[in-house]
Amino acid sequence: MNFQLKPGMLLGAATAATQIEGGDTNNNWYDWYRRGYIKDNADPSVATEHFRRWREDLDLMSDMGLQCYRMGVEWSRVEPEEGRFDQAAIARYREELQALVDRGIRPLLTLHHFSNPMWLEKKGAFAVSDNITYFLRFVRKMVEGVGDLVSEYLTINEPNVYAFNGYLTGSWPPGRRNPLEAARVLTNLTAAHIEAYGLIRKTRLQMGFRDTRVSFANHLRAFAPKDPKNPLHCFWAGRAEELFQGNLTRAMCTGRTAFPIGKHPAIVPGRYCDFHAVNYYARSTISGPADGVAQGAAVNDLGWEIYPQGIVEVCRKAYGVLPRPIYITENGTCDNADRFRARYIAEHLEALCASDLPVERYYHWCFCDNWEWVEGNSARFGLVHVDYETQERTVKDSGAFYRELIAQGGVSGELYERCCGGSYPTNGEGNG
Ligand code: BGC
Repeated sequence: MNFQLKPGMLLGAATAATQIEGGDTNNNWYDWYRRGYIKDNADPSVATEHFRRWREDLDLMSDMGLQCYRMGVEWSRVEPEEGRFDQAAIARYREELQALVDRGIRPLLTLHHFSNPMWLEKKGAFAVSDNITYFLRFVRKMVEGVGDLVSEYLTINEPNVYAFNGYLTGSWPPGRRNPLEAARVLTNLTAAHIEAYGLIRKTRLQMGFRDTRVSFANHLRAFAPKDPKNPLHCFWAGRAEELFQGNLTRAMCTGRTAFPIGKHPAIVPGRYCDFHAVNYYARSTISGPADGVAQGAAVNDLGWEIYPQGIVEVCRKAYGVLPRPIYITENGTCDNADRFRARYIAEHLEALCASDLPVERYYHWCFCDNWEWVEGNSARFGLVHVDYETQERTVKDSGAFYRELIAQGGVSGELYERCCGGSYPTNGEGNG
């Protein structure tokens, strides 16, 4: 392997507020933890204590040469009670954003990443269309508060994952198992994104800024039929792709709806995405209505298939819906012993750079090991190791590789040989 990054492409890392900050007990995920649903019982009100240790983390980012950073804000901190906005919380986020800008690290801000304030959760969160106005009020406050420091925004992270886990399988809060409600949530999230898209651009324009870019973080999987010659497998693979992500992508980007996205007065044809924000991890192998992983496939420590070419396949499809620049806003892997992360990064970037797609950014998930939702602290995705006893941070070998990759502007044969020799686990059971 030997490749150069695309000209002008920036490399950085991503995080989400609830997964790193700690110190907040006022959101639905803390409640989920309190109710005993986190596998290792790890407490999100500790996480990696980033809310206190953010300066140390930003120093590490500078050391690693990160050029851009995707971070989130915790709504329940900013609006701890309905209608009461905490100016100190907004000021704290300003401080961090200013420090990023001062270090020459370009911020991308996520406004909603799976967590809701408890007061909103009790009102039904995004299952209730009227609640969208609360989201818009929060978005306006945030943009008014930090808009001079940030030109790029993500409205909502992974609407499909939020709706699927929270309202279809019930494994995430609020633990519902109701397909109709899941479809309603997706519809309301689409409407919320479309309204927030316009609101963010308008608010920044009123502040005198014309360079705003807004999108939503789109969780895209590659889908393949288990046996490409079997028409049933092909049928189910196509259905799964459309239901999980295809129709959602079209609705969020262009306001055109098809099941499971329903009608809503805010969803009208238009252009609602200034760049594609693609979160890509894995491929599904399909032979029926259930998800699966091909037997013998390379997998990570959570059993997700590692399929680098998939990142190009999903980006190409998104680009076909609306031709816009591409930001990879998450790509990474659960590799608890940091054996194959460097190889994973190199192979995904190589695939992207060999394509003709306009890829402008790559945010590795995750900057540091973090509180991984229902997996707790037991699934490590970081470039930086966190010792949860002491909160000590140590740059992993993959983090050191990433630093060299950024400095070289690509991966030389020598760098690849030296750092990317790790082998991937293989999927033995094969439920695909
Ligand atoms: C989410 C992240 C999560 C990552 C790895 C994505 O779906 O946006 O919050 O940590 O996957 O599981």
